Amino acid sequence: MDIQKMADIATKLGIAFPSAEVYGGYSGFYDWGPVGAELKNNVKRAWWKEFVHGSHEVVGLDGSIITNPEVWKASGHVEHFHDPIVVCKKCGKRFRADHLIEDALDINVEGKSAEEMTEIIRENGINCPACGGELGEVKLFNLMFSTQVGPYEGSISYLRPETAQLIFVNFPRLYQVARKRMPLGIAQIGKAFRNEISPRNFLFRLREFEQMEIEFFFDPESDECPYYDEVKDYEALVLTAKMQERGEKEKKMKISEIVPDIPGREWIVHWIARSLKWYEKIGVKKDLLRVREQLPDERAHYSQGTWDIEFYFAGMGWKEIQGVAHRGVYDLSRHQEHSGKSFEAVRPDGTKFVPMVIEPSWGVDRVVLAVLFSAYDEEEKRKLFRFAPIVAPYTVAVFPLVSKDGLPEKAWEIYINLLDEELNAVYDEKGSIGRRYRRQDEIGTPWCITVDYQTLEDNTVTIRDRDSMEQVRISVDEVIPWIRERMKHWKR
Ligand code: GLY
Repeated sequence: MDIQKMADIATKLGIAFPSAEVYGGYSGFYDWGPVGAELKNNVKRAWWKEFVHGSHEVVGLDGSIITNPEVWKASGHVEHFHDPIVVCKKCGKRFRADHLIEDALDINVEGKSAEEMTEIIRENGINCPACGGELGEVKLFNLMFSTQVGPYEGSISYLRPETAQLIFVNFPRLYQVARKRMPLGIAQIGKAFRNEISPRNFLFRLREFEQMEIEFFFDPESDECPYYDEVKDYEALVLTAKMQERGEKEKKMKISEIVPDIPGREWIVHWIARSLKWYEKIGVKKDLLRVREQLPDERAHYSQGTWDIEFYFAGMGWKEIQGVAHRGVYDLSRHQEHSGKSFEAVRPDGTKFVPMVIEPSWGVDRVVLAVLFSAYDEEEKRKLFRFAPIVAPYTVAVFPLVSKDGLPEKAWEIYINLLDEELNAVYDEKGSIGRRYRRQDEIGTPWCITVDYQTLEDNTVTIRDRDSMEQVRISVDEVIPWIRERMKHWKR
């Protein structure tokens, strides 16, 4: 498996494909087809259920995509949100300089200045990968998409490059609405946009993508996490900054051992461990996940420490699907200063403080990609996705054995009943039964129900399990509890 093969499978099955294919696609933009839209929605729904409904401290927000441009000045994105770009002097093609160097020399240059990268290119004789021509100087390129707002020239704003700022800028209102609760988590799912210089690797590096983010505000003077005991012994593959400096590989350790003694430490451990547990629930393979501490020069301008959760993509290696960043008081202080309004919270004793923030931030498209890579399997006779039932595009398919003699009517009745019970079902009566099973295996439907002649006699159906291919015969009345029970206890 590699990323191109996954892109081909996803296109063929209607999971995701290049946007506007008939015009040759559009680099960095993908459209989600019927199967992919279900899968992606299920991942987002599972996330909201787990982290918003499942957390006492967290409430939701749905902020605007375009907002007052002052937000992006205050946040530092106008000044700092850049990637290095280099242009070929001969053919004029543009490349992301750090990726070009990484591909040519297999070294990590994150955090190096434009001048340093220009020097590396010169010293190592790196030329244009397209035409072999000489490359110019490395320059910085702002990643925000700008757009004109209203019919007034010069009234420029930006498509949000992260959902996070809508949470920060609304903190005074949200804090009031949440009745001055502290700690307070605000969660949001939504599109974000970055004008990537070289979008690549299918859904991995996009120009339009989706985020699931939580900004978790806390008082640095009372930063104990009441759930810490549940996570303090949780183990995972980890790679600290020190281990990277020593050239070591990831190894299994307690998350609590890798987070230093900084304000909010227990909450950082909580958010990392909880995220890892959630990945297991949605079917991401645990042995393909690791927690990597970012090196100081890799960190974003707002970060005091960041732990990436990375997935091992066959053919691409370890890549970030989530970051857990300690943003300190950076964002709220910047908005306080820039707007002249108070972004403070109040302690029970009446003293005021600017809350600190821990930010777990997931890339939806990347998480879906990790789900796809974890679930894909090839056997001698079939290719299938072994999706966890909570994210599978369809939970159950219903077939009449033949399309006559009252079997379709009975199958349709069962199908409608499943939908009424909020199980995502699909109905199919076309082709041989074996073909119909294969079709559902391909898109990862965990169970198929077949209505046959016996059903008309004794109201029983067969249910076939995608993974074992075994069939059991049960009463129609038992179908829904049978499925729910297995959804609840599913394990990869
Ligand atoms: N809010 C963090 C990020 O967009 O990477």
